[in-house]
Amino acid sequence: MAAGKPRVLVVDDEPHERQGLSELIAAWGYAVEGAADGAQALEKLAAAPAHVVITDIRMPRMDGLQLLARIRQTLGDLPVLVLTGQGSKEAVVECLRLRANDYIEKPIRGGELKQRLADLVSEALRAAAPAEAGGGREREDADAEEWEFAGESKAVQEIRALIQQVAPTTASVLITGESGTGKEVVARRIHQLSPRRERTFLAVNCSAIPESLMESELFGHEKGAFTGAVERRAGCFELAENGTLLLDEIGEMPLPTQAKLLRVLEDRRLRRLGSKAEMPVNVRVLAATNKDPAKAVASGQLRGDLYYRLNVFHLHLPPLREHLEDLELLCTTWLRRLNRRHGRQVLGISPALLAAFRRHLWPGNVRELRNALERAVIVCDGPMLEPRHLAPDFGRARPVYEDDAHSVRVPVGTTVAEAERLLILKTLAGENNNKTRAAERLGISLKTLQNKLKEYGAASRAAEAEVRE
Ligand SMILES: Nc1ncnc2c1ncn2[C@@H]1O[C@H](COP(=O)(O)OP(=O)(O)OP(=O)(O)O)[C@@H](O)[C@H]1O
Ligand SMILES: [Mg+2]
Repeated sequence: MAAGKPRVLVVDDEPHERQGLSELIAAWGYAVEGAADGAQALEKLAAAPAHVVITDIRMPRMDGLQLLARIRQTLGDLPVLVLTGQGSKEAVVECLRLRANDYIEKPIRGGELKQRLADLVSEALRAAAPAEAGGGREREDADAEEWEFAGESKAVQEIRALIQQVAPTTASVLITGESGTGKEVVARRIHQLSPRRERTFLAVNCSAIPESLMESELFGHEKGAFTGAVERRAGCFELAENGTLLLDEIGEMPLPTQAKLLRVLEDRRLRRLGSKAEMPVNVRVLAATNKDPAKAVASGQLRGDLYYRLNVFHLHLPPLREHLEDLELLCTTWLRRLNRRHGRQVLGISPALLAAFRRHLWPGNVRELRNALERAVIVCDGPMLEPRHLAPDFGRARPVYEDDAHSVRVPVGTTVAEAERLLILKTLAGENNNKTRAAERLGISLKTLQNKLKEYGAASRAAEAEVRE
């Protein structure tokens, strides 16, 4: 790309469209480069950064939304403008959710694109200029807040206390928990509270990297180390030097790579693929998995010695259904963040929606909650989020728990504590919130029932409110 002009990357798999669009944009005085899909776009961005990316959605290999997600993960705020199909509301919601800066519905009108592009480029140039007092700070704070592990339940408070303890050390930490419970949040928080906070935090998802590339991805390679290694490349360890490296989905790492990783962790030295020289490594390693690591060891998927090496410190994050008393707080926390992110002013969540949320079992945990709220915030047309702002299939995707007024269905996989909670709350509801009668039917003393309800905290108060509704 020519130097001096603002650089724009156009990503579209249709060669004619890509070329037509590129020529149009070049005529407006930009340096334009094209890519045929998301994967190629990432390669091009790695080779030469752009000021703005314009991407189509539907493409082979990596589509526009996946590209957008990857850009947000690795390149932060790089402005992205998405071209959406006509009338595709879901795509618009999705790209705003993934924090696209802007979108334009196809067919594209030149004047509109020219204006939006100019806005994004000037935004990019402003962001690249040295931060003025105050300006950059706010963004940093907003980002910092994103990695706060919110919740007031006992379980969450305990985890926060453990994070505080372990963060300042260089100990490895193994973070486990179901998908969406906040493992990455916790990892970033540990980094933030550590002396390495000014250095790189890098997360590699072991399940997203093809097996054949895993070692070069982690340890880097020399030119000619294998077919396709046309250039010398630094691996994740080198990129995270002096910082923190999160090995996500560690259970998906091939066994030979696990052996190499263990050696690197023990020796604190590594060798790029195809190199003879070793170099010292100073990286704090965190690992995460949504599988039970002890079981993965038992089944031979995870090396026992690596497990013990990573498990110096273990943080297990509970599923949301086991700390529903945090639901309301998580909702308000996310509502505040999402209002800011999308420039909205939604005031709150209606009691009907909160009640629906309380009945839901959240198989996708806090991520599912955040996604549901984000969609609702985007489509919300009034002061409060209502059930009608949820996606039509909300709660239907995985009916873990179907019920009617007189029964509780408890799928295998539910914990005993959770089953008990469901039964108690349902019985109480069936008895119009009369605790004496409910205790009788449950075959427990009134005192026990009261204690249980106290234990459920806010969750049970909500259930009571629901009964009265
Ligand atoms: N306690 C929490 N407070 C606030 N936000 C949270 C919390 N836990 C999770 N989240 C949010 O939920 C989403 C998913 O979190 P995260 O990516 O850390 O999950 P994960 O455990 O790594 O999931 P996976 O196993 O699928 O990778 C993020 O948007 C995160 O900010
Ligand atoms: Mg994760």
